[in-house]
Amino acid sequence: MDSYRDAVTYNLGLLNFISDIIYHDSTDSTNTIASGLAHAGAKEWTVVVADSQNNGRGRQGRVWHSPPNTNIYASFIVKPDISYEYFPAMSLLAGMVVALLIEQFTGMPTEIKWPNDVLIHDKKISGILLELGNDVDNRAYVVVGIGINVNADATVYPDTIALLSTSLMLLTGKVFDRAEMIGCLYSLFYKWYSLYISRPGFNSIREQFMQRFKMMGKQVAIVNGAETVSGVVKDIDNYGRLVIKDSDDNIVIVKSGDVHLVRTAV
Ligand code: BTN
Repeated sequence: MDSYRDAVTYNLGLLNFISDIIYHDSTDSTNTIASGLAHAGAKEWTVVVADSQNNGRGRQGRVWHSPPNTNIYASFIVKPDISYEYFPAMSLLAGMVVALLIEQFTGMPTEIKWPNDVLIHDKKISGILLELGNDVDNRAYVVVGIGINVNADATVYPDTIALLSTSLMLLTGKVFDRAEMIGCLYSLFYKWYSLYISRPGFNSIREQFMQRFKMMGKQVAIVNGAETVSGVVKDIDNYGRLVIKDSDDNIVIVKSGDVHLVRTAV
């Protein structure tokens, strides 16, 4: 295959549920493009893939470093016909699907950090940004943006990111076919998404997610902007929210934020 564009088009063309494939060598953010298209009424399963992004966006307003020729940056649109309250847990579904994909390609076990970071050896290998909205016909849509650090070597990241992140190549010493991975990512997502739509709620993916979630019973601090909630992780509810017991034994339900393990003195 000559180019990443051709390979992406070929691999996604094999999947009959995909309605449109939009490819850019370089763009600001595949999520921004997909959200604009979704709002304008683009079909479900429109996919936007880029080789690089110059304004890659992460959770909590962070930047997603997106160099060319190395990693996966892909977003797609779905318009689930389910109650709106079950939309946010799709971010956990996406994290679980990426974990399954990475395990399939590397043979290495992964960990999921709520809500959807996939880690290997405590370092982040992928990030997911879910954006919700309504299109011109007032139909609710979800843009699922996925970034996976595939073939990046240590030099492409600024030091601060390199401390916390790794790539599949750095972990295994192998170079991976990004376009083939995107094809597998979407077939896996389609399978789990179809199950989720037929039985909305975190419980439909609970078993697979929990096998990779290592924070149950741990003391954590969840930071959301200026707000921090601390306590012990008790559960994830059917809406994908973290259930925490604080130091006064109150149950606190957390919708979003960054989870940090708190090391307790022994
Ligand atoms: C995170 O903060 O962990 C989420 C990062 C999400 C990055 C992906 S890359 C493809 C898509 N386009 C974006 O601008 N962001 C998402």
